[in-house]
Amino acid sequence: MQKLSDCFILANGVSIPCIGFGTWQIPDGDTVTQSILKAIEAGYRHIDTAAAYNNEKGVGRAIRSCGLKREELFITSKLWNTQRGYDKTLAAFEQTMSDLQLDYLDLYLIHWPANAKQSQDWQKINQATWRAFEKLYKDKRIRAIGLSNFLPHHLEPLLNQAEILPLVNQIEFHLGYTQRVVVDFCQLHHILIEAWSPLGQGKVLAEPELIRIADKYQKTPAQICIRWCLQGGILPLPKSTTSSRIRENTMVFDFELSAQEVQTINQLPHCWDSGFYPDKIDF
Ligand code: A2P
Repeated sequence: MQKLSDCFILANGVSIPCIGFGTWQIPDGDTVTQSILKAIEAGYRHIDTAAAYNNEKGVGRAIRSCGLKREELFITSKLWNTQRGYDKTLAAFEQTMSDLQLDYLDLYLIHWPANAKQSQDWQKINQATWRAFEKLYKDKRIRAIGLSNFLPHHLEPLLNQAEILPLVNQIEFHLGYTQRVVVDFCQLHHILIEAWSPLGQGKVLAEPELIRIADKYQKTPAQICIRWCLQGGILPLPKSTTSSRIRENTMVFDFELSAQEVQTINQLPHCWDSGFYPDKIDF
């Protein structure tokens, strides 16, 4: 990746801008609208939201007022856990479209897999949800469909039954929490990995080795984290409400980490993760 407008190409041929602007935990209303307008001004063309972030209306306002054509933007949203199943998924999608005030989505993800702790029928529930995703895709309401927080044992039964294969899996991925088994499985199956919390919510940025590499390139630790994702073929979704950081997080195209540095960061020990494990969550 050489510049912010460069894209990863999904297995169905759709282009997805290589850094997305994450909006998790950004409150609805002016805060999210202004953050997105700043991001678009800084050059982002890819916005990631979700029904559960409760900010889709503010995201939609930013999309309408930014002055760009709809097709110049790549918009992702996600289906929340209470809306799984065929009929509920179709209804939840319409609600998302109404909140965003859009007539198509670029990417729609199942936010979390149903898991065995929640229901004996978790596999059937994921399959019914996916069938609704396939219908929306075939109806051309969505340009690409995918998953979030799916581990290989959630993915395998879904892949066995799917008519249209998932194109993306968005997972927690940052220094010290690289979920290598999930990444390898998805890359083998041509499923693009997107990184949520690529900066470890800011909690991994004081890692001494990261600071050493950042100093070498006269970059910030956050910029090294983002560059490291890109060089690993992973699409980062950094989030910020601070103008200077929104810009800073795009300035990662004028240097390249060596293979040795990528390896060093890959191998840094666990230091922090969110604790949201897909088989343990009860929401
Ligand atoms: P803020 O929104 O106040 O700028 P992640 O994307 O991993 O979830 O991390 C988001 C957190 O990291 C937010 O608290 C955000 O704070 C902070 N953050 C975003 N960009 C940077 C940066 N370039 N340097 C330091 N902290 C950052």
